[in-house]
Amino acid sequence: MGNYLLISFLLLLCGITTAVTQLFNSYLTLPSSCPAPDPALNYRPIIGIVSHPGDGATGRLSNATNVSYIAASYVKFAEMAGARVIPLIYTEPPQVLNQKLNLVNGIIFTGGWAKDGLYFDVIKGFFQKILEKNNAGEHFPLLAICLGYELLTMIITNDNNILEEFSAASQASTVQFVENVNIEGTVFGRKNTRLPYKKVLKRFPPVLLKKMSIDCLVMQNHHFGISPERFQANKDLSSFFRVLTTSTDENNKVYVSTIQAQRYPIAAFQWHPEKNGFEWGSSRIPHSEDAIQVTTHVANYFISEARKSSNKPVAREVLDSLIYNYNLTYGGKAGKGYDEVYLFIPHSSSSSL
Ligand SMILES: *[C@@H]1O[C@H](CO)[C@@H](O)[C@H](O)[C@H]1NC(C)=O
Ligand SMILES: *[C@@H]1O[C@H](CO)[C@@H](O)[C@H](O)[C@H]1NC(C)=O
Ligand SMILES: *[C@@H]1O[C@H](CO)[C@@H](O)[C@H](O)[C@H]1NC(C)=O
Repeated sequence: MGNYLLISFLLLLCGITTAVTQLFNSYLTLPSSCPAPDPALNYRPIIGIVSHPGDGATGRLSNATNVSYIAASYVKFAEMAGARVIPLIYTEPPQVLNQKLNLVNGIIFTGGWAKDGLYFDVIKGFFQKILEKNNAGEHFPLLAICLGYELLTMIITNDNNILEEFSAASQASTVQFVENVNIEGTVFGRKNTRLPYKKVLKRFPPVLLKKMSIDCLVMQNHHFGISPERFQANKDLSSFFRVLTTSTDENNKVYVSTIQAQRYPIAAFQWHPEKNGFEWGSSRIPHSEDAIQVTTHVANYFISEARKSSNKPVAREVLDSLIYNYNLTYGGKAGKGYDEVYLFIPHSSSSSL
């Protein structure tokens, strides 16, 4: 009996001590060990990814009218750097797309093949809105990959024949940094001069940049491109963009492979930063630790730009639009193409417009 009382007393004492410790921790330890986050940054960035016509698998997954898709690799790429994704389904009515544009802090134009029709018009419209937002003082980044890069060159030059043919289908390559190019403040840049000294961001380490110029760490998959000569000779392109890197195709022809806008948070890649981490359908895709670092650093660059966007949309509307509302389809079991895709099949186009 005496023992029982003693144990009860000890347990009670124990409980009180724990509670007091917890109280102390919450009042004393936490505030001093967790400094307030930078109020200038948005730590809940949302990325819009524009869907592309088709099912991403030449009909193996769906032949539905006006079906479009987003390869999951682009979604994971944004997520790995601390963002959530809203699909911008290009077949949706313009007013729906505009509403969704107001829910995001940056946009990705993906790879693919479509260069005309509604898809081209939607990409062009988004690009104009991105320039408008930035011109109005809202920091609003764009990452354009492969087809996205090619479309930008067509839109900026207003010339649908600006591209030249290259042989770079399904191959890994190096990137050669343009001589004397200043990479500060670009996707490869080591510093972000907009941030105070304490917050200087170190992205691509010099040793990785060096390896990228020697090892084949980036995945190419394109039949078109632009030579550096043509790029520089075109006033629209050379005044808008800084050329950061070039690469070489199977016939030793050199094309521009990475560009960065001079005055906008826009980076464009002829190569695929997202594939190294998340696509397995081609044996040519590099998956070495260095290759994964390339994916990681590009993703971190882009999402850090998105955190500078001050747009803070209504939470409810965000939740309703997030990619989590859609199901993944595993298309890669066929041994080719994208491993996972999101498919978007429009409801019958009755009176919804
Ligand atoms: C789509 O059409 C093609 C060609 O007719 C056919 O081979 C394929 O099985 C169809 N896909 C689906 C998901 O039904
Ligand atoms: C996703 O899959 C689940 C389980 O099969 C199903 O209940 C749900 O309706 C699907 N959602 C969509 C948007 O297709
Ligand atoms: C497919 O897209 C076209 C062009 O936007 C549209 O006219 C048509 O109604 C759409 N069809 C369906 C079934 O959504």
